[in-house]
Amino acid sequence: MAFPFDNSAYHYYNFQNMKKVYVETYGCQMNEHDSERMLSILSEKGYTPTQHPKEADVVIVNTCSVRAKAEQKAYSSLGRYTGLKKKNPGTWQDRLVVFSGCVAQQEGERLLGRFQGLNVVVGPSQVHRIDELLARARTEEAVVAVAPEQGQDRFRNPVKDVHGIKASVTIMEGCDNFCTYCTVPYLRGREVSRSARSIMDEVQALVASGVREVVLLGQNVNSYADASAGRTMTLYDLLAALNSVSGLERIRFITSHPRDITDRLMHAFTDFGKVCPHLHLPVQSGSDRILKLMARGYTTARYLDTVDKLRALVPGIALTSDFIAGFPSETDEDHRDTIQFIRHVRYDNIFSFKYSDRPLARSSASADKVPPDVIAARLGELQQVQLAITREIYGSLTGTHQQVLVEGDSKKPGRQQGRTREGRIVNFSGTVPSGTLANVLIEDFSDNALYGTHTREEN
Ligand code: SAH
Ligand code: SF4
Ligand code: F3S
Repeated sequence: MAFPFDNSAYHYYNFQNMKKVYVETYGCQMNEHDSERMLSILSEKGYTPTQHPKEADVVIVNTCSVRAKAEQKAYSSLGRYTGLKKKNPGTWQDRLVVFSGCVAQQEGERLLGRFQGLNVVVGPSQVHRIDELLARARTEEAVVAVAPEQGQDRFRNPVKDVHGIKASVTIMEGCDNFCTYCTVPYLRGREVSRSARSIMDEVQALVASGVREVVLLGQNVNSYADASAGRTMTLYDLLAALNSVSGLERIRFITSHPRDITDRLMHAFTDFGKVCPHLHLPVQSGSDRILKLMARGYTTARYLDTVDKLRALVPGIALTSDFIAGFPSETDEDHRDTIQFIRHVRYDNIFSFKYSDRPLARSSASADKVPPDVIAARLGELQQVQLAITREIYGSLTGTHQQVLVEGDSKKPGRQQGRTREGRIVNFSGTVPSGTLANVLIEDFSDNALYGTHTREEN
């Protein structure tokens, strides 16, 4: 994060007196990105970020409600900061506490009754207005901004001061799928695609500031559709346009819905050299009965057909997925089908979660819940089975050369870190500037990374 005195603000702000902002983030990449956007907006207004809530003038808790645990963390964090305000009225009275993101959207005004000292409640589609909301909070008792923004306005104020070589770019937001376990469509609202023009402008600016990899974000990027310039632009068309941005090396996109992967989109991996051979394709379950109850809109056979086509087209493509253990009514047999499915697909990695009741989601009304101990055992098994596969895949890469986009120093001194085109983390010994595409000989691996030595630079 840049200090605002990189620019003309230098003349107006004394470093010692600068206002400070602390942000705590829960949830998905979109939430991480929304936090970066808020920091970027506030940095333009003279705030510097701090890691210490106790020295902050503004404390923001950016929250997630996808599972009950995430929601509880949001409240305990909010309770801590409003509590500090109550305990330290002298030193804390001018500080502002902001509650943003999906739990803010879910609870809205109700939060004000529960948490005295809360100043701003802001939903995900209103975070671009954070500066204006803070200004209002200095004169009004409390400000609530949770009206869903269905226009292009929500994409205003993208992150400006990126210094890394990798950046996220929102291309759409919201979800129309209403999977029966999921609360996201109720909180992020209906799907809205951002105009391609605005995405291109943001990417050009990022590349000009040194970014070499972009990750296109959306709850459901496959249904991206921008009709603002006459002809409808799909994700494939957007990837085509981005592929021609000179200086940009790599493009990824997340998250894809298996039902919406078209043959044309699959060809993006071969038609456009910058689109990386990695696809996160959350399947959730390997049982057709459960997939139907989840309203996912595909069968295991159709999903496997997509996997076969992708692998025929893009040999070596890395696939990752999400799984939910213990969806209501899941039997041992359904679970065994899921285990078999994981063994069959051989994902690079999976994210697996215990089923969690979300009051807004339809499955929470089911009378056939799986006991928590059974859910825990099933989750453990999913993770064990996947770990063995990840180790086999990583082990098979020992002795190969990989193209690594160098992201910076790793935590261990003398080592650097980057990712392969497939998205695998590589730690290696070398002294290569960030942003270089380095050739690394893989010599070892752990459960979540590859290890190697830099052999030569490719450009
Ligand atoms: N839009 C993305 C991400 C949704 S949330 C998608 O469709 O893939 C990320 C993951 O959280 C989901 O893929 C699912 O595996 C998990 N998840 C969502 N709701 C859940 C719930 N109620 N309990 C447990 N896991 C859940
Ligand atoms: Fe939730 Fe399903 Fe939408 Fe993903 S596709 S955000 S799991 S409703
Ligand atoms: Fe969580 Fe909202 Fe993302 S519920 S997963 S922060 S869309």
